Amino acid sequence: MTGLLTLLDNPLVRKWVVGITGLGLVLYTVLHLVGNLAIFGDPATYNGYAAMLHGSPLLYVGEVFLYAAFALHILLAIAFTVNGRKARGQGYKVMRSKRPDRGNFDLLSHRLMIVTGILILGFLMVHVWQLRLTHSDEIDLHAKVVGILRHPAWGPLYFIGSILTGWHIYRGFQSAFRSAGFHHARYTPWINRAGILLAIVLGLGFAVMPIWAFATKGGM
Ligand code: HEM
Repeated sequence: MTGLLTLLDNPLVRKWVVGITGLGLVLYTVLHLVGNLAIFGDPATYNGYAAMLHGSPLLYVGEVFLYAAFALHILLAIAFTVNGRKARGQGYKVMRSKRPDRGNFDLLSHRLMIVTGILILGFLMVHVWQLRLTHSDEIDLHAKVVGILRHPAWGPLYFIGSILTGWHIYRGFQSAFRSAGFHHARYTPWINRAGILLAIVLGLGFAVMPIWAFATKGGM
């Protein structure tokens, strides 16, 4: 355990862990979107899918990994920013002088990652509270989710949270590979394109749900 913590003292290892946990969270987000697409269909299918998930002990194992990944990702990203701030005199100046064309852009982009990350955390705290922590298995989940998505305050929050998630993934996907030191003349542009596609599909995929709930009142 102490050895593991010492390893995390290394800023490169920290960056790498932020990237790997970020990619794990993207994978969860893809699965989460696919599962939630059932909201557009028969409520019984949606509720049946949720009941199946809740009946499996694997859900709790998955949740341990999910929340550990969230915790590591958030804490190390914050540690990275705080350290970056302390070393502002050196770190960012070095970055700027090395790439004068990109320096300000990288700095702004990094700051936006932290800002969008904090806003997404706020959204997720409300979301997990509403749909995971205070949800009882007896309640009709489809009706509950649609009710939340149609709510004049929660609906826009879910819309904004979804778009922010898409934006965060757009910047984060590329930098996860960069942090791991992966750069390849042929594959890097494809990784960047895949990141853009993922960000659009995930951001818009979730964002259409509150719009649909408003427009159709949750019925077909
Ligand atoms: C906007 C449409 C969304 C809908 C309809 C939706 C629906 C749900 C539902 C029904 C649950 C409870 C699942 C359960 O009880 O097993 C849940 C949990 C969760 N959602 Fe979402 N979600 C949406 C967007 C998002 C977004 C954008 C994220 C960001 C990555 C996200 C992350 C999570 C997390 C972390 C949990 C807790 C998982 C757990 O503890 O098992 N959701 N969501």
